[in-house]
Amino acid sequence: TSRRSVVRAAPAALRMAQSGETLEEFLAGSDPKLAKCVAAMFASCKEVAYKIRTASCDKMACFNDFGDEQLAIDMLADKIIFDNLEASGVVATASSEEVPKEVTITAGAPYSVAFDPLDGSSIIDTNFTVGTIFGVWPGDKLVGTTGRELVAGGMVLYGPRTTVTLAMDGVEGAHEFLLIDDFSSRHGSWVHTATFTSVNEGKLYAPGNLRAAEDNPGYADLIDYYRKEKFQLRYSGGMVGDVNQILVKGKGVFCNPSSPSAKAKLRLLYEVAPIGYVMEKAGAKSSDGSGSVLDIKVQTTEDRSQVCYGSAGEVARFEQMVGKKV
Ligand code: AHG
Ligand code: MN
Ligand code: MN
Ligand code: MN
Repeated sequence: TSRRSVVRAAPAALRMAQSGETLEEFLAGSDPKLAKCVAAMFASCKEVAYKIRTASCDKMACFNDFGDEQLAIDMLADKIIFDNLEASGVVATASSEEVPKEVTITAGAPYSVAFDPLDGSSIIDTNFTVGTIFGVWPGDKLVGTTGRELVAGGMVLYGPRTTVTLAMDGVEGAHEFLLIDDFSSRHGSWVHTATFTSVNEGKLYAPGNLRAAEDNPGYADLIDYYRKEKFQLRYSGGMVGDVNQILVKGKGVFCNPSSPSAKAKLRLLYEVAPIGYVMEKAGAKSSDGSGSVLDIKVQTTEDRSQVCYGSAGEVARFEQMVGKKV
């Protein structure tokens, strides 16, 4: 074989993105159908960002299968995403927090998507940062998979700026894209603004489900430890913003443990696994108290899990002090 063909046969190196490149340029190096699927999610989030600024966030006096009260904007975001995934033609199955079933979208298409259309609906009225979470799996099944099989994942932040932190198979690190929006149209474009590749040890903590500390003594001890060590508290109650800050600051820990009286709230398929994928691609660790959240098998679309994301040392501390007892 010629030298050239040997080079071609070598395993493809992980690609690094360039700051300033557009989403289209970034996606050009990926499988075209996966690129289409991811582009459909970005297009959805552009629409959702616009709706969040302008549409009602009233309650609708109805509840989803998880017992959460639904807002009009939860349902609007959900519909926008389902519609865009259908239009893409590359999504076999989709499932969301608001419709937690495996919904057939395009028979025979190569990918499936699970998503939380609007994360943080209980803080949208306060104008805090809310988000969207999504994961893309190959094939037409979501139940029975693990996060390990994900080929793309993203967390979208609707804050002072709209950004997506995206991770994909074959691309090193996690990548932030900024929505450049001229406010005169709903169709701004996305520009690569940051690459996240490592999370170091540092004293920043986001302790979710703090009420669990009441009857989970390991969690109570962990909180005492953070306080004694003078960790900086940074918790908004919106998982996407609370987790993404760990990548931006390059340090810290987010956790949402369980206790007998205050069970873990976060959903494996729509929240825990996709964010675990993004975090691990970005050099952070994840755990459910005993191991990476990417190894938890999705038994049903309604599964929930404890979770911790952050630096290696802090995730190890969570495993040691809180563990997986509940
Ligand atoms: P959602 O708005 O999608 O139902 O989920 C919100 C999640 C997450 O953002 C946050 O970390 C957690 O709920 C907070 O829960 P509590 O308000 O019950 O502590
Ligand atoms: Mn909800
Ligand atoms: Mn959520
Ligand atoms: Mn939600």
